[in-house]
Amino acid sequence: MGQSFSLRKAGSIFGSIGGRFDASEARKSFPSGSKVGSYFDVTELGREVGFLRRPEKPLAISIFVTKGGVLKTTLTLNLARMAALHGIRVCVVGLDMQGDITQALGCAGPDEDQSLEDALKTLNSLKGLADFSQGQTSLDSIICPTEIPTLFYIPETPDLVGLDQSLLSRNRREYWLKENVVDRLKESFDLILMDCSPNWNRLINNALVASDAVISPIESKINNFRNLKTFRALMAEFGRDMRLEFKHLFVPTRLVSSRRLSREIYEWYRANLETCTAYSIREGVQGEEATALRLSIPEHSPGCAAAAEIRLLLSEIASALGFAAPEAEQRLILDHAKLTGTPDRATELSIEV
Ligand SMILES: Nc1ncnc2c1ncn2[C@@H]1O[C@H](COP(=O)(O)OP(=O)(O)OP(=O)(O)O)[C@@H](O)[C@H]1O
Ligand SMILES: [Mg+2]
Repeated sequence: MGQSFSLRKAGSIFGSIGGRFDASEARKSFPSGSKVGSYFDVTELGREVGFLRRPEKPLAISIFVTKGGVLKTTLTLNLARMAALHGIRVCVVGLDMQGDITQALGCAGPDEDQSLEDALKTLNSLKGLADFSQGQTSLDSIICPTEIPTLFYIPETPDLVGLDQSLLSRNRREYWLKENVVDRLKESFDLILMDCSPNWNRLINNALVASDAVISPIESKINNFRNLKTFRALMAEFGRDMRLEFKHLFVPTRLVSSRRLSREIYEWYRANLETCTAYSIREGVQGEEATALRLSIPEHSPGCAAAAEIRLLLSEIASALGFAAPEAEQRLILDHAKLTGTPDRATELSIEV
């Protein structure tokens, strides 16, 4: 992408503008001055000053709930990019025929000036899980790189529908993804993130069976609130039938704290769902813009409250799943202050870099 960052901007992605950010340490890694050249350098900085760390054992996480538009893909994108910028080796597996995460990770689709014939050729050249399952290509050759050196993905193709159908006639049909894809990805990656569709199909069964953890975004809105009971019952039944032991986290999304209903739904989630995170993803334009630009919120606007919130949320998720950096809370102290309204000491603490 040819992007270049100032050291301050790169540091601020990780919430490290002041306080715990040791500029002299960072300077040792970047003696050339205040420019951090590329995503490669940002990744190095993330390892040093960030709030996430590599999990001890590789982790497979599904982002899934049976409701559309609740920010599953947005959460996948934010977690994937931020973890990768911390030097964690991430592979995203797209499991939604809509192909949103594939687009968000920058898969070069046909461009608008191409002819229909060329556009179809470009589309058909994209290989994914379906081609791999038919033995037409190797697993390695469907893993695509991104501009972040530690972030890779397996793209969604329209043939995912066919793969879903074909799973029905396979032996051990719920285990295909785990045994052929996820367990093998664990040999090369620290974090495998599966962005799921809202429709519970056979691929979703496979994703759940392959998961060490499931994260379910839940909107702080009345429709999602009603959907939740059925969803939890179905998940409990499936987990029992298949003897699964994944951790299940709920993440409130689209919270509008100025609205009473939204706030009360959030409070209900916190009081009644044991594994509901305290931090949420708020409804807001920065979040929407970041997703449209295919960036995480902290990369897009590191100083805004939405970025502060997502850093705290990712740190909370990482603590629950064992990939938070030691003393992560201290590193995010300014973010917490920003959100809780404690006087902002950023100016006092910030240091020139
Ligand atoms: N913080 C935000 N506030 C409001 N809208 C947002 C925010 N973040 C992202 N959006 C927008 O919300 C829409 C839905 O988000 P997203 O695609 O992540 O949901 P999803 O749960 O993956 O949907 P689907 O079920 O269709 O896969 C997107 O168009 C996205 O740009
Ligand atoms: Mg989605």
